[in-house]
Amino acid sequence: MQVSLTRINKRFGSVQVLKDVDLVFPSRKFVTLLGPSGCGKTTLLRMIAGLEDITAGSIRFGEREVNKLAPRDRNIAMVFQSYALYPQMSVRRNLGYGLRVRGTPKADIEEAVGRVARILEIDHLLDRKPAQLSGGQRQRVALGRAMVRKPDIFLMDEPLSNLDAKLRVTMRGELRRFHLDLDATTIYVTHDQLEAMTMSDLIAVMHQGVVQQFGTPAEVYSQPANVFVAGFIGSPPMNFLPGTIDAGRFTFADAKLPLPALPGGVKPAHAAILGVRPQDLIFEGTPAADTLTGTISLVELLGSEKLVEVNLSGQKRMSVQIHADMVVNMGDRVHVKFDPQRVHVFDTESGRSLRAG
Ligand SMILES: Nc1ncnc2c1ncn2[C@@H]1O[C@H](COP(=O)(O)OP(=O)(O)OP(=O)(O)O)[C@@H](O)[C@H]1O
Ligand SMILES: [Mg+2]
Repeated sequence: MQVSLTRINKRFGSVQVLKDVDLVFPSRKFVTLLGPSGCGKTTLLRMIAGLEDITAGSIRFGEREVNKLAPRDRNIAMVFQSYALYPQMSVRRNLGYGLRVRGTPKADIEEAVGRVARILEIDHLLDRKPAQLSGGQRQRVALGRAMVRKPDIFLMDEPLSNLDAKLRVTMRGELRRFHLDLDATTIYVTHDQLEAMTMSDLIAVMHQGVVQQFGTPAEVYSQPANVFVAGFIGSPPMNFLPGTIDAGRFTFADAKLPLPALPGGVKPAHAAILGVRPQDLIFEGTPAADTLTGTISLVELLGSEKLVEVNLSGQKRMSVQIHADMVVNMGDRVHVKFDPQRVHVFDTESGRSLRAG
């Protein structure tokens, strides 16, 4: 089922929390709403579920406008950020609840509960009550309760937030596989960019109630539309340097760095921000017109990589990611070189990418 949001606005009293949200989620895709805390993700998801009034705009499932449709008539399944299990019911009964109230035959409920319990590795917990489970186990039961149904649309609000790091990684894969089996459109909410990148077909990056960019994980990573998206997506975060563009070069301190073609064109001495990911920088043996010289102020071992912090002139810093085998020391003078094809250039005033045209 395709989900279309047209000029969605939401105000709580005088506070506007969503502004002109226009998004189309194609049928059967895994789509993620990604953004920092308070940007409006849960509010938008609750509006799709029918749990929150729409101040202005239209929500359609397929061709049908659902603005006034009650939640139970939307054929959606939901997992919330703060989930509630029925404390007096066993895990088995909690999982089967949604099917029981719909009058599903007993054998079918048992079959569905068993399948989901195996996927989520909670089959040994079926006879326990929620109070006898750990936080992560409870969260998996909450997920399972939504998974036993066959909804058109599956809504999930940070369903992995209470799990430990290892289980979170396993569950990412499970949810993705589950989505492929289910044939439903999944709308997933998270503030974790890695989760969004690994699971989604499409990501809507949100900030302060406004959609900043809507695209595939590869697009938001390699062609960020603005400074916000560039800084939010990717780990370790992108480096930003303020400077000006002159004659196709980016001027920072006394360096003149080559730039890629900028289809939008630039004014003379155009104030711009250069963005470059730590993975896209290398150390050069000798200084040149297209390198920046600085001093190593911190070395962090990340495992197979090292993250090196370099102090540049004018209080600016950059992080450079190198192979862990490379020997570097605090206080070393280094020359940092850019690949012009792998830099991002943003207009200082609007924050918009100048590479996008
Ligand atoms: N019922 C409400 N009344 C007033 N303001 C609200 C209400 N619900 C949410 N808000 C505000 O709306 C904004 C968006 O909240 P929302 O819960 O959608 O954010 P979120 O992106 O889900 O954040 P998080 O990642 O922390 O869950 C916040 O500023 C929040 O304080
Ligand atoms: Mg939320």
